[in-house]
Amino acid sequence: MADSETSLMGDVFRPYEKLVEITILGKTFLVPERNSLLRAFQFISPETIPYGRFCWNQECQYCKVNCRLSDDDRARPILSCKFIVSEGMNISGLAPELVGCLRTKLGAVASSAPSIRESAEIASALDRNGNGAHAVPSDSNFPTEVAYRPLYQDKSSDLKP
Ligand code: FES
Repeated sequence: MADSETSLMGDVFRPYEKLVEITILGKTFLVPERNSLLRAFQFISPETIPYGRFCWNQECQYCKVNCRLSDDDRARPILSCKFIVSEGMNISGLAPELVGCLRTKLGAVASSAPSIRESAEIASALDRNGNGAHAVPSDSNFPTEVAYRPLYQDKSSDLKP
């Protein structure tokens, strides 16, 4: 990476001293600590995440993921623009915009990512049980696969019947 690119990348991240390991759909990545999970996704895919339709402000919910923390017993829906990345995060589901942006980094596993409907059901269950301390609220405005087409698409998959 050229010096100018390194400088440009460094400007968007909060200062960090080490990288932490996270898992996304079974693939492991090293990302900078002390940054939001969405910023970590940008570290993984700097050529797509900045051009995704993300508000970076906890409003659009296009950054929603299902995530299990290292000290938790199950996955919970969170907004990646809000949540700080931590060692051992295990992400088992991604909103369509994130799938599109991370598709080239995730490879074939991106095609089998759990649907956003499943994420909404988990969020709804968390709300009913009152366990929403760091869960995002369930809402009907969250984009579905039918109504929402991610900005980034794997063109080769469009060719399949
Ligand atoms: S980027 Fe919009 S809610 Fe996270």
